[in-house]
Amino acid sequence: MAVINIDEKFALISEHWRPKVIAELNGQEVKLVKFEGVFPWHHHEDEDELFMVCKGSMKIEFRSRGEGLDPDRAAERVVDLQVGELTVVPKGEEHRTLADDEAEVLVFEPASTLNTGNVTDGSFTAPRGIRI
Ligand code: NI
Repeated sequence: MAVINIDEKFALISEHWRPKVIAELNGQEVKLVKFEGVFPWHHHEDEDELFMVCKGSMKIEFRSRGEGLDPDRAAERVVDLQVGELTVVPKGEEHRTLADDEAEVLVFEPASTLNTGNVTDGSFTAPRGIRI
């Protein structure tokens, strides 16, 4: 059985917001991603997403689904995650991720999941299935 070292894998990642696959199981993927700044608002129609902080800290903001994806409409709830903490974003919930300083984050979700969910026309949308 292969042993995967998370720190070694993070060292291979230089871009922000571009998830890389490090393991696959049961149709799901374990991905690593570096966050810095503010990600666009979006939701995932069919997938729950798990986020776990490995280094740094991050926030996930939530708001009710509205017409369009106005970036200025305020968050209604915020989850603050520190190293070793995780949360699950339920399918259908409009959310965005934020990190003031660079954070290293493990994501666990179905392989079909697009990082920007229902928003596919921006530069944040990353290709799926990129292994490191
Ligand atoms: Ni998402």
